[in-house]
Amino acid sequence: MAYKRVEIPAAELARQRDICFEIRERTERAPRRPLALVDTYGCQQNEADSEELRGYIELMGYGFTENENEADLIVVNTCAIREHAEMRVLGNVGALVHAKAKNPNLLVAVCGCMAQRPEMAEKLRKSFRVVDLVFGPHELWRFPELYKKARDTRRRVFAVEPSEGVVAEGLPVRRSGRTKAWLSIMYGCNNFCTYCIVPYVRGRERSRRFADVVAEARELVEAGYRDITLLGQNVNSYGKDLDEGRDFADLIRAINDIPGDFLIRFMTSHPRDATEKLFRTMAECEKCAKHIHLPVQSGSDRILREMNRHYDRAKYLDEVRLARELMPELVLTTDIIVGFPGETAEDFAETLSLVDEVRYDAMFTFIFSAREGTKAAAMPDPVPREEKQRWFDELVERANAISAEKHAAYIGTRQRVLVDGVTGREPWNLSARTNGGRLVHLRGDEGLVGSFIDADITDGNTWALYGVPAAD
Ligand code: SAH
Ligand code: SF4
Ligand code: F3S
Repeated sequence: MAYKRVEIPAAELARQRDICFEIRERTERAPRRPLALVDTYGCQQNEADSEELRGYIELMGYGFTENENEADLIVVNTCAIREHAEMRVLGNVGALVHAKAKNPNLLVAVCGCMAQRPEMAEKLRKSFRVVDLVFGPHELWRFPELYKKARDTRRRVFAVEPSEGVVAEGLPVRRSGRTKAWLSIMYGCNNFCTYCIVPYVRGRERSRRFADVVAEARELVEAGYRDITLLGQNVNSYGKDLDEGRDFADLIRAINDIPGDFLIRFMTSHPRDATEKLFRTMAECEKCAKHIHLPVQSGSDRILREMNRHYDRAKYLDEVRLARELMPELVLTTDIIVGFPGETAEDFAETLSLVDEVRYDAMFTFIFSAREGTKAAAMPDPVPREEKQRWFDELVERANAISAEKHAAYIGTRQRVLVDGVTGREPWNLSARTNGGRLVHLRGDEGLVGSFIDADITDGNTWALYGVPAAD
């Protein structure tokens, strides 16, 4: 199953921009500037995609709003990872009939991972007449063309053909923040973990070219961004599909060499191919945050095999040991699925014991959700939901207690933090992150946003730290 890399030609992207300018001319003649709302669900990859959609929309001369009753264009960028995520989207999309009744000129678009699922595209077609345009992640680069078609023809447009995915360089982007930026380094996934929908909706793994990624990182640093998160479903396999002979560790090193005061973060690392080279590079690169999100999913070897994760508990624990040896200050976070089909009380006990052994700084826990078309969805799943919920609650309680202990250990220490936002809530009016990515609620001058400062940590709980700028 060889994937043939498809790069969108520059001329095609130029054509999309031309369509934006054409729309802009109309926009400028309109009595009122049209407004758009882009609503994003799901992971950072979707956040990054929404910034590109906003880039296109900005080129069209539109303004932005958070109020759906004010909007002329609403784009809902969806997630398909769990059923709950999809239900939430459908509920909110359905409710847009009210906004449309008030403004018949409103155009509603649904895009993202859920739109790429044939069952869901069909559901939108049949039961959600309020939706005018549906397109999957592979069509995002030609949003202007699709949008124009839906506007001009007043017919519903569906662009959800199956695809292995494309690489489109040079899309316009309107970033949401001025301190933190997302930087996609690759798209898609080849791993086919048996529970996961991502490879079906996001296509095959494909890396952006090394020079393109480094150039974008340099632009970000020059534009004043201080916190750059490299994104991919499995960043550790960056470059394997290219013929450039460079891997993810090489990429970190090249970005680390860019002059300036900034932090490099990344997500997500798959434990199957987290290498010693990666950990050593992280340790040696002073701009690389000492944080790794290493989703373990389960502590049971049997379940890990059923999940098709390609590592076992011992290999995972060896990686954690090595990473901590090389970076004693390392912050470690993870994802865990509870109630995978066939998971027993003994398997779950293995997960609990792994959590006790590793002691994560923070954990993201999910109850298994069957995704149509994946292998796990067809496996026998005899454990009742209530039992899974009990396991889940027990795991969350354990995870929260460990996080609280970890955070308590910061009290009385001084941390270099990046102040990244104003919360508008007193007395903790600022938010900041430690090098390892822990959230710090800070009291201080708003002028500090965007700078690295030393903070004295005065308090901490399960979710966050509290502090003040160091006086001396
Ligand atoms: N590419 C990342 C994961 C992206 S999805 C990785 O491999 O680490 C984020 C998390 O959602 C996963 O780590 C997993 O814990 C959870 N998840 C994915 N599919 C799920 C499903 N069907 N049910 C419940 N949780 C799921
Ligand atoms: Fe899903 Fe596994 Fe790919 Fe992560 S690595 S996106 S969990 S298939
Ligand atoms: Fe969801 Fe798609 Fe991300 S399914 S988690 S938005 S890749």
